[in-house]
Amino acid sequence: MEQLLVINTSPQRSGSYSRKMTERFVHLWRLRYPSGEIIHRELGNQPIPHVDERWIQAAFTPPETRDHQQKDTLTLSDELVSELKQATQIVIGCPMHNLSVPSTLKAYIDQIIRMGITTRLVPGTPGSPYAGLLHDKKAYLLLVRGGHGYEKGEAYAHMNFQEPYLTAVLGMLGIHDVTTVSLEYTAIGGDQFDEAVKRANSRIDALFC
Ligand SMILES: Cc1cc2nc3c(=O)[nH]c(=O)nc-3n(C[C@H](O)[C@H](O)[C@H](O)COP(=O)(O)O)c2cc1C
Repeated sequence: MEQLLVINTSPQRSGSYSRKMTERFVHLWRLRYPSGEIIHRELGNQPIPHVDERWIQAAFTPPETRDHQQKDTLTLSDELVSELKQATQIVIGCPMHNLSVPSTLKAYIDQIIRMGITTRLVPGTPGSPYAGLLHDKKAYLLLVRGGHGYEKGEAYAHMNFQEPYLTAVLGMLGIHDVTTVSLEYTAIGGDQFDEAVKRANSRIDALFC
């Protein structure tokens, strides 16, 4: 059975464009997979704790020698990892925040990158020292930016630490089948924004044709 993990990362609720995009995606996904399971993971308004010293010590202690406290420390991380492992498809709605992703998403990523569980270090491998342990998953990135010019080949592409970062992180996990739909101009408005919305919506719709 298909399972979709929906990750929303915008701190905004009603005025959020990335949420509108994930809503459109989820609506179409539901029509495509009527009996599929959908799990929602809210990050924008339910922030994930940052990893701290206790977390690092627990995560790097072999599971069989972890004490009760260390197991407790990893409870949320274990839950997030299991949610991710179960999903066959993942959709992430993500604004650009200061050239990168919202800090809540970074905190989530730190919780789900687990050595020996979701990825493995293979030093010296060309291209990436990580071999992801999550296989047969498809990811969709629905990205929004207030400005414009951050796409490949454009003036500010070198400042885009949102899409290349997320693609690299998914690769670290073994998720290489990644489709991105971007929407720019959200803070600018006008005709260019209207056109950008139409383009982004039709790209989402085309995923389900
Ligand atoms: C803290 C913060 C930082 C932002 N940094 C950028 C940025 O670096 N580049 C950009 O184009 N837009 C930036 N924006 C604008 C957002 O990407 C834009 O408003 C987007 O629509 C927010 O996503 P949402 O509509 O889903 O909430 C920033 C917005 C906030 C709140």
